[in-house]
Amino acid sequence: MSYMKRIYIKTWGCQMNEYDSSKIADILIKNHNYILTDDVKKADVLILNTCSIREKAQEKVFHQLGRWRTLKENNPDLIIGVGGCVASQEGHQILQRAKYVDIIFGPQTFHRLPHMIDQVYQNKNSVIDISFPKVEKFDFVPEPHSISPTSYVSIMEGCNKYCTYCVVPYTRGEEVSRPCDDILYEIAQLAEQGVREVNLLGQNVNAYRGLTFDGKICKFAELLRLVAAIDGIDRIRFTTSHPIEFTDDIIDVYTDTPELVSFLHLPVQSGSNRILKLMNRPYTILDYKKIVDKLKLARPDIQISSDFIIGFPSESQDDFDLTVQLITDVNFDMSFSFIYSPRPGTPAAYLYDNTSQEEKKQRLYTVQEHINKQSMEWSKSMIGSIQKVLVEGISKKNIMNLRGRTENNRVVDFEGLPYMIGQFIDIKIINAHFNSLQGMIEKI
Ligand code: 5AD
Ligand code: SF4
Repeated sequence: MSYMKRIYIKTWGCQMNEYDSSKIADILIKNHNYILTDDVKKADVLILNTCSIREKAQEKVFHQLGRWRTLKENNPDLIIGVGGCVASQEGHQILQRAKYVDIIFGPQTFHRLPHMIDQVYQNKNSVIDISFPKVEKFDFVPEPHSISPTSYVSIMEGCNKYCTYCVVPYTRGEEVSRPCDDILYEIAQLAEQGVREVNLLGQNVNAYRGLTFDGKICKFAELLRLVAAIDGIDRIRFTTSHPIEFTDDIIDVYTDTPELVSFLHLPVQSGSNRILKLMNRPYTILDYKKIVDKLKLARPDIQISSDFIIGFPSESQDDFDLTVQLITDVNFDMSFSFIYSPRPGTPAAYLYDNTSQEEKKQRLYTVQEHINKQSMEWSKSMIGSIQKVLVEGISKKNIMNLRGRTENNRVVDFEGLPYMIGQFIDIKIINAHFNSLQGMIEKI
């Protein structure tokens, strides 16, 4: 029997990167006989799947590679690969600074990794491929498998929106939708394996325009209805959407498709029209609020979450106050907020910025406190209600308890029996903590 090579994968960043890493593992394990190891010292191949959306990503990469360098010095046959958005952006420069790196691949070329590894073994030379072939990678990903009742499914890749602060259009390329039937087939297979909830993934899922087998274009609203019609799929989430294409046909799906959750992540980024313009986010706060109003008409119980960038160049106290006001007005639930981080090569990195980092930190703190308070109020308002909970497994707090998720994405711990894992169970909420709820079985 030939020796099975061991691969160690380290992932940073967003859900998309986590998803990509799981597919890299699938390709290497199922199609190429590798095994995954979580012991970096025992690996034959080390992969770093990087993210460059915020923070000092480049430095972080070289710092990590520096640690791996010693391993390579002790074992010259060790292969080191760097993928993801930093690889896509820095390319050759990584090889120049860290000559011991063997492979550089991008978010759209991870399926070529097995071939690239073989090339390094044969030629003892480094290999680089950070091109943007049109979602060909999905043709190389093995049949999906899931041991969990929930699963991510990528439906589109890339972004054309070019928000002035963001690297994604440069690192992940233009928007490309996967063919509609490929997605439906994948979800049907997952449903057969017991998956009850899917989270449709993409940088701007509402820009989805996928080809059908008869050459027609399937839009996002249509895709949602088709996914909802798959036997076994009872809950649909999606991330992320852009307000600019959150059209009425998508809002209509909320009126007739109960599988679609009453919880939507719709990033607004700022409450100031002036800042939105500088960000190249082509909508106003009034436009955003109109979408929220329509959603509430379609689904009165809908909860909305958002991303916020705090301290964008030239953000004044007045601009910031408008963001805080918007958070109150929309009553946003759990949301993400980040201090603006200048990204090399993006237009906003050249804008004059006169706000001190201290002031930005203070603003971030204010926003986070405000959102946490609102989110806790939402949680408390659930006490006494009966929630449909999809049971995902054993509780992290108490191994005698089970853990699942409500439609509005809250973790619930409750006393139950192992056979309930993978099922929807009606749970009465009896207490609300900061990160989770406590419940008891109402009826089975
Ligand atoms: N600085 C801070 N936050 C950013 N995001 C994207 N780019 C930056 C940046 N340069 C945030 C946005 C986006 C989320 C995924 O990351 O809020 O919605
Ligand atoms: Fe980045 Fe804007 Fe595209 Fe989102 S929509 S990925 S923030 S460019």
